[in-house]
Amino acid sequence: MKIVVIGGSGLIGSKVVKELRARDHEAIAASPASGVNTITGEGLAEALAGAQVVVDVANSPSFADDAVLEFFETSGRNLSAAERAAGVKHHVALSVVGTDRLAESGYFRGKIAQEKLIRAAGIPYTIVHSTQFLEFLGGIAQSGTQGDTVHLSPAYIQPIASDDIALAVADYALGEPLNGVVEVAGPEKVRLSDLVQRYLSATHDPRKVVSDVHARYFGAELKDDTLVPGANPRLGKTGFDAWFSQSQAVR
Ligand SMILES: NC(=O)c1ccc[n+]([C@@H]2O[C@H](COP(=O)([O-])OP(=O)(O)OC[C@H]3O[C@@H](n4cnc5c(N)ncnc54)[C@H](OP(=O)(O)O)[C@@H]3O)[C@@H](O)[C@H]2O)c1
Repeated sequence: MKIVVIGGSGLIGSKVVKELRARDHEAIAASPASGVNTITGEGLAEALAGAQVVVDVANSPSFADDAVLEFFETSGRNLSAAERAAGVKHHVALSVVGTDRLAESGYFRGKIAQEKLIRAAGIPYTIVHSTQFLEFLGGIAQSGTQGDTVHLSPAYIQPIASDDIALAVADYALGEPLNGVVEVAGPEKVRLSDLVQRYLSATHDPRKVVSDVHARYFGAELKDDTLVPGANPRLGKTGFDAWFSQSQAVR
């Protein structure tokens, strides 16, 4: 099959492309770096010609509230128009577990808008809801940093390694459209504030985590289970310790 991966140069996109090629499919890594831009429309029709499946794992270059909403709305509209014109049979998108519970957050209002457009587009689809990537722990720490301390909610997360989510996305791209949401999570359910402290200690980062039930996660206050999946998610195999030692070995 010809499968176009929008955001194919990114953390997840590059791994999805590799996995699909390893399974003998024609996977195209499409992003501004290769002349395909879902905001301007540049290169989109050419990239999608003859494609059966589109996987959207792009992300907004800016996390400012208005910029994220503008990115996912414009990108979603341009993408669905181009997919209709090309006769694409399956649209697969990567979103976040709990997105519908996170409307207080500007970033997640962008993801809610992206999902709404997908449901309305009339193209068979699968929305893959992932938990936080283990690779994103540093970014989460950064988002809560105030001087020498990091203010984070003690709500639960069940983070996943990027290798495991990329494998799941490749599987869903090769499967039938589900016209719904599937959830994918890591093997361990832990408190966000505890895990980030573990990550900072393991990387010899002197910042200390302050656990605060009111600390906002990208603008949203969390309940204990806001970021964790419901019953029967697909589970990745890599927990924090295995991921951390692998990621240190790669350095
Ligand atoms: N971080 C998490 O914990 C988490 C959890 C669950 C789901 N997600 C979702 O996972 C997805 C992928 O995240 P990621 O961390 O892999 O992203 P990433 O590494 O930041 O990569 C973003 C990709 O988007 C592309 N892109 C940016 N602007 C574009 C445009 N105008 N047209 C086409 N492509 C464009 C980039 O292309 P260039 O390199 O060419 O600029 C890059 O390939 C996101 O949708 C995010 O919401 C994230």
